Amino acid sequence: MSDALAALNEKFGIPGALRITTGQGGLACVEVGTEACTGRIYFQGAHVTHWQPAGGRPVIWLSRQSWFEAGKPIRGGVPVCWPWFGTGPNGDRQPPHGFARLMSWELEATRRGDGGKVALVMVLRSNEETRRHWPHDFELRLRATFGRELILKLETTNTGRTPFTIGEALHTYLAVEDIERTQVKGLEGMNYIDRLDANRTKRQEGAVTFTAETDRIYLAEGEAQVEEGRRKIRVGKQGSATTVVWNPWIQKAKAMPDFGDEEWPGMVCVETCNVPPREVEVGPGTVQQMRAAVSVEERGA
Ligand code: BG6
Repeated sequence: MSDALAALNEKFGIPGALRITTGQGGLACVEVGTEACTGRIYFQGAHVTHWQPAGGRPVIWLSRQSWFEAGKPIRGGVPVCWPWFGTGPNGDRQPPHGFARLMSWELEATRRGDGGKVALVMVLRSNEETRRHWPHDFELRLRATFGRELILKLETTNTGRTPFTIGEALHTYLAVEDIERTQVKGLEGMNYIDRLDANRTKRQEGAVTFTAETDRIYLAEGEAQVEEGRRKIRVGKQGSATTVVWNPWIQKAKAMPDFGDEEWPGMVCVETCNVPPREVEVGPGTVQQMRAAVSVEERGA
């Protein structure tokens, strides 16, 4: 183990529950393993790539073809998209989904809770590199709790003197058995922006089902449930005014080099977010929070 990893383990490791180690592609990550679950989060992007409650199947999907390279986004898991979503409100921002997912964050704290829970905090602070993309001063924290539930809280602090506006997403990739037999509930009657139909606003009738590429921004503040196979995955949220639902289907999957051609039936993204037209302003000295809670029920159990 390198000296740097040894020092991090000395400071933050929790025997029998959490260790800092080298993950795929030689990138550093935090690994959690308790009686409640296993989990993994990379320093690059504060990117959760794995969460599996004990006795269950993995809930978070990760592409077998993902890059694991410094400065390249990981495909799957929970990318933190910040401070803009996609190419931003006017379609002119780069890199796509912001820079936070491409940067190395710092581990700030770890803690063991009851019932096999492990909580940790990662932080990204504005620096020369972030200012090249975006001229604001900030601290961005991801507070993650791995347990029978996966709780992710994204906390934006404006440490500057002027307000700024952010788009943000906890871009959660969920593992499903078969997208064509998957339904997303909780969005019935909501308006959504169809990103694949000239951003037209439409109304959701009944549960969301999948028969083609799907890329929608729901104006929805509440929980969504993904029903797949015998499992129901709940994505609860707070401080989030939009929910993105995405599956690339056949052609788009083929066009993405870091996404296996045959992998699209096994995933769906249900993203807890504040994205255009619902970006949020953060005033100087204030803290903005968005929270997602993922949990699983085996149906008919
Ligand atoms: C989704 C967007 O959130 O992320 C899609 O709605 C996009 O339009 C997808 O294709 C993946 O984005 P990326 O940048 O990780 O390839």
